[in-house]
Amino acid sequence: MRDSIRVSVESDSEEASVHVHDDAGEVATDGVTFRFSIDGADVTEADTPSDEDTSTRAHEGSDDGERDPRYIAPVTEIPTDSTLRCTAVDGNRTTEIILRRERDAGVFAWRNSCPHKPNVPLDPGDGAIIDDDRIVCHAHGARFECGDGFCTAGPCRGDALDEIDVEVRDSDVYLSDERFAACNLPY
Ligand code: FES
Repeated sequence: MRDSIRVSVESDSEEASVHVHDDAGEVATDGVTFRFSIDGADVTEADTPSDEDTSTRAHEGSDDGERDPRYIAPVTEIPTDSTLRCTAVDGNRTTEIILRRERDAGVFAWRNSCPHKPNVPLDPGDGAIIDDDRIVCHAHGARFECGDGFCTAGPCRGDALDEIDVEVRDSDVYLSDERFAACNLPY
């Protein structure tokens, strides 16, 4: 039995290594598996992802590598039992927004502000309260419909959240509200 050999493969985003005791082995990184033979010292690439897997997605840019400035997140990352925060941008003006996904109705977004006291965020940082499919303000308990943001109970009953337009394309969520030119990634 030969001494072990350490083989490393490095991509832009990660590095993987393996100790090989036999004449052949394999190591995978970024979804690509490299199989190799020690005696022949040849390294071949196997299990190469399909064109679909390796193509650069539109939101990450194509030729220039820049992401779509309106891209927010994959739809699967928008929670159904809480909210995701990000910032919509128009010039020097930024607005914090929250997003929530309803299982059969799509993704909705609103300004992260309670109509009762606009300086109170509905999502203070760890997600808004969702109860019985309604957003509940943590400060005084106002309840808002998750579609149109209409307040059905609490001190601002009859008001509504400021709805922000978003759209889903190819399983990704984008800001589509004309009041904003771009958004920062969720945090
Ligand atoms: S600040 Fe939201 S209900 Fe009072």
